[in-house]
Parts: sequence; structure tokens; C-alpha cells
Amino acid sequence: MGMTELFDDAAPKDVPTVTLRRPDDWHVHLRDGAMLRAVAPFTAAQFARGIIMPNLVPPVTTVAAAAAYRERILAAMPAGADFTPLMTCYLTDATDPDEIEKGFAEKVWVAAKLYPAGATTNSHGGVRDLVALAPVLERMERIGMPALIHGESTDPSVDIFDREAVFMEQSLLPLLKRHEGLKVTIEHVTTAETVEIVRAHAPRVAGTVTPHHLVLNRTSLFQGGLRPHYYCLPVAKRERHRLALRAAVTSGDACFFIGTDTAPHLRNAKEAACGCAGVFVGATALQTYAQVFDEENALDRFEAFASLNGAAFHGLAPNAGTITLVRRPGRALAAVPVEDDEVVVFRGEEPLPWSIAG
Ligand code: DOR
Ligand code: ZN
Repeated sequence: MGMTELFDDAAPKDVPTVTLRRPDDWHVHLRDGAMLRAVAPFTAAQFARGIIMPNLVPPVTTVAAAAAYRERILAAMPAGADFTPLMTCYLTDATDPDEIEKGFAEKVWVAAKLYPAGATTNSHGGVRDLVALAPVLERMERIGMPALIHGESTDPSVDIFDREAVFMEQSLLPLLKRHEGLKVTIEHVTTAETVEIVRAHAPRVAGTVTPHHLVLNRTSLFQGGLRPHYYCLPVAKRERHRLALRAAVTSGDACFFIGTDTAPHLRNAKEAACGCAGVFVGATALQTYAQVFDEENALDRFEAFASLNGAAFHGLAPNAGTITLVRRPGRALAAVPVEDDEVVVFRGEEPLPWSIAG
């Protein structure tokens, strides 16, 4: 079930294990077509539900497109998989509040994704004017539909390592003031300052943290040479930020939960003169989170972060069933074939101290 190979079958009796309610991934890119079929089984092997990102080409902006995409995802699931895709709407300057409300009322989508236009992959059609988005955000506030925000400045003159901080100060804090009842997830938090902003606005604001931002810092991107498979947006920050993220997720605070941001791209598109942003962490997410909680002596808080906090924020019940992780070395596959190329797996082939037992 873990889709990882264990090094040895003779498990010593006293190996630490952790059993959790089945966890959810509140931020996942499953893509479409051949890529969707290749990566979907990995997310379904780890998570019971996932919030599916809408940044397809073209983006998912209508109720009909989201419903059709949900069907394609379900059709791509392996036999016997038990995975519920939770869909999102891609916000633009032209989003109609009535369409937002219709998709939410019909339970097609559970949230809307706000990409500042140009901030990241397939975001050029995103939102240019956050103030002008008020009628949409007011409607969402009224119906209790969360905004999932990619928090980075799109000003090209802002240093890339400062883009999250600048967005938070110049855009997010004013938005939270303008829309005092809006539920917001600040996605893939990467700085110590954003951690504090999430805490200061909880419980209506939450933050997700990826596995890779818990184990990489900005130096990792250049360790021994350029590491394109560690490049994602927001880019990993200094070590002090990584440590703050580890403290946040293991704090037990209800405002932090899983969002892996698993974002597969073909090897050819990553290992290129202008490589694209995104880390495929779908096959090694739980193993990596478990390792972090273990290293921080916080395995007793892992279930809250993985399986309870996100469901509570979204007003959903926790999942039935459990998953068990075990501190036995294993390793994931190096890459997932997709047509005539492949997707490199984050920490693939590396010895991983934690494995999924079933
Ligand atoms: O690194 C990233 N990749 N960050 C994003 O926000 C988007 C994602 C993608 O879709 O590839
Ligand atoms: Zn993402």
C-alpha cells in the first residue's frame, strides 16, 4: 500500500510506529491526461481526500469544468482506491460571484484558489486587482467558502526570497482587514513571519506547510550544484525559516495542516535552461512528514496536523480508517514514467527512515 520498497522484512519488535486517522492533502496538483493517470495513484495511496488545484490549461473557472475534471480524476484512480477529490475554482478578475455560489451550493467545489496573476505556474490568468475582487470575496465570506491564497508578490523588482513577505504586508494583511469574516488558507507557508500572521488570525485563517519546505532551505537548491528538482514556488527560504516551519507544524496548533503542493512536471521541463517550478512529493509526503515529527519528538502531534486540523477548518468530519507509518528504512522509486518522459520523485531512491506500513 505504501508503494515504497522496504529494505528488510524482518522488522524488529520495538520499531516505533504511528497510526493515524487517514490523512488529507489540502493542496495537490493532479494535472490532467497522461500525467494525471501517472501521479493519481500515489496521492490516493497516502491520502483519503485532496483539495485539487485548478491551474490546468485552461484553468478551471466554471462549475461545469470542475465537475468534468472531478470525473476525469475519479476515472484515473486505480481499482480499489478510496480517494475523494475536493475541487476548487480558479479566481480571475472576471469571476462571477453567482458562479462561485452555484458551485459551492451544488457541492462541486469547496474553495476558491487565488493566484496573483503571474505568481507561478499557469497563473497568468489569475487575479490582478485584489481590491476589485471584493464582490467575489464578499460572497465567499457570506456563504463560508474559503479562499486558498498563493501568497507571493508579482512585482518583478521584488527579490524572489522576499516575495512572500512583501505579499503578506502589502496585500494579504489589507485583504484580511477588508474581509474580516473571510476564511483564508495561506498556502505553502515558507517564512517565520507568515507563521505568526497565520497564528494571529486563527481560527478563520489557516496555513499549510509542504514536506519539502520542512527539509530544504535555500542553500539546498545549490548543494553541490543546481538542483532543479528542489525548485518550487514559493522558493525555499533561509534555515531560520525552515526551523520556524518545523516548530509550527509540530506545535499542535489547529491552524496548521498538510498541503503537500505535490506539483509534477516532466523531467525535460525541470532540467531545462528555464526549468519550471514544482516538486513531485506525492510519493514521499507522509514518510517525510513522519520523519520531521519524529526528529522533533512530536509524533503524538502528527495526527492533528495530518488528519484533524484541516478537516475541522473545512467543516468536514475526519476520515474513517487509519494508516500506519513505521520507522523502518524504505525507499521510493526514482521516477514515474509518463509517456516518453518521466517525473522525478522527491527523495526518490534515497533511504527514507520512515515507511508506510498499511
Ligand atoms: O512550485 C509550484 N508549482 N508552485 C506553485 O504555486 C504551482 C506549482 C505548479 O503548478 O507546478
Ligand atoms: Zn500549488
